[in-house]
Amino acid sequence: MFQAPRGTEDVLPEEIPYWTYVEETARRYARLFGYGEIRTPTFEDTGLFARGVGAATDIVEKEMYTFKDKGGNDLTLRPEGTASVVRAYIQHGMHTRPQPVRLFSLISAYRYDRPQAGRLREFHQFNCEAIGEEDPLLDAEIITMAWRFYEGLGLRNLTIALNSIGDSACRPAYLQALTAFYEAHAGEVCPDCQRRLHVNPLRVLDCKNPRCQPVIDEAPKITDYLCDACADHFATVRSALAALALPVQLNPRLVRGLDYYNRTVFEVWPPVVGSQAALGGGGRYDGLVEQLGGRPTPAVGFATGIERIIINLKHQGVAVPAAPAPRVFIVPLGEAAREVATRLADDLRRRGTSSLIGLGRRSLRALLRQANSLDCTWAIILGDQEVATGTATVRHMLQSTEERLPLPQALERVANLVQ
Ligand code: HAM
Repeated sequence: MFQAPRGTEDVLPEEIPYWTYVEETARRYARLFGYGEIRTPTFEDTGLFARGVGAATDIVEKEMYTFKDKGGNDLTLRPEGTASVVRAYIQHGMHTRPQPVRLFSLISAYRYDRPQAGRLREFHQFNCEAIGEEDPLLDAEIITMAWRFYEGLGLRNLTIALNSIGDSACRPAYLQALTAFYEAHAGEVCPDCQRRLHVNPLRVLDCKNPRCQPVIDEAPKITDYLCDACADHFATVRSALAALALPVQLNPRLVRGLDYYNRTVFEVWPPVVGSQAALGGGGRYDGLVEQLGGRPTPAVGFATGIERIIINLKHQGVAVPAAPAPRVFIVPLGEAAREVATRLADDLRRRGTSSLIGLGRRSLRALLRQANSLDCTWAIILGDQEVATGTATVRHMLQSTEERLPLPQALERVANLVQ
């Protein structure tokens, strides 16, 4: 028996209301903040992610689904959305549009990670990018958008972790200080951190190994090393967020798992104690457009995982709108009735009223039970007598009331607009 591949999930009809709710809310907030939708391919040249996300990141080192196609092209299923959107921005000359260009997408993404609750190998993101503006108000705006989106979904008690990781002017001095500090404490940290220090030193701050925590606590803080331009930029982001009273927690240890960030980085966390999983995260990436072959162009973005949102909606007991049930269930009893039922169902659907026909020559009882379990509002019963007299018995499923009506009136009664 085949099973869905490890780390992937089927979304069954009963789960779809959560997905629809999250996706519709995402589209609503994207529109409120002026984001246009973009759709990019599921796979890209492998080099795009190696160069964009960073060769020394976990994603590129360990987690990419990379393959050669039959033409020998080196391709990778996207592990995230930003690199593709930036590639599209450059490829389509979007620098000629009014800046910033605000783009959102709802995507699947692929990372070969160890599957657990909220961590999948195929997962889905609501991804937002604002490209072409360095104004710190844009950083504040995208964080606000993330916040209002979660709030609009009905999620409560989230927090925003915020940091600035400086830029190419000030980060080298910080990394030097961090490296010196870690070298002095080399015996106290895990082997991973000893390695990270040389390939991707900022990531030592993100180590989850309990052994490394005291060292992380004592390590130099990036925010003490910011140059004036980065410090000013960060101050404006913070004051804009403070003006909106968003629950921001400054976290000088916050670094992200992708290499393209500079200045503002942030994550949104759910309230569950001990939760290892951010709901969403993002930040500024002023160097990425240039790194991928475009002209120097500042940008900031955010992505959030749909599966993690749904886990938290359920955990917090947020009710989502149910998928609409079929409105009418037609019960044909006998051969002639089956033909009438076929025409009637077609008439109803053409008027915009969802209708099902009871199939398989089942009994009245069995078909009404089916109508009931499908939550249909109406059943239309077509027996021999009804067919002979051009009538139908209209049954309101909830009220259990029945009425025999001429067919056109029966149709009027159950059609959407007439209750
Ligand atoms: P990220 O932090 O790697 O950032 O992913 C963003 C969100 O995607 C996470 O907070 C989480 O909700 C979800 N996610 C990531 N990996 C998994 C997984 N294996 N299973 C389930 N959900 C997952 C980015 O992807 C950046 N591109 C965000 C960004 C956009 N930065 C700037 N613009």
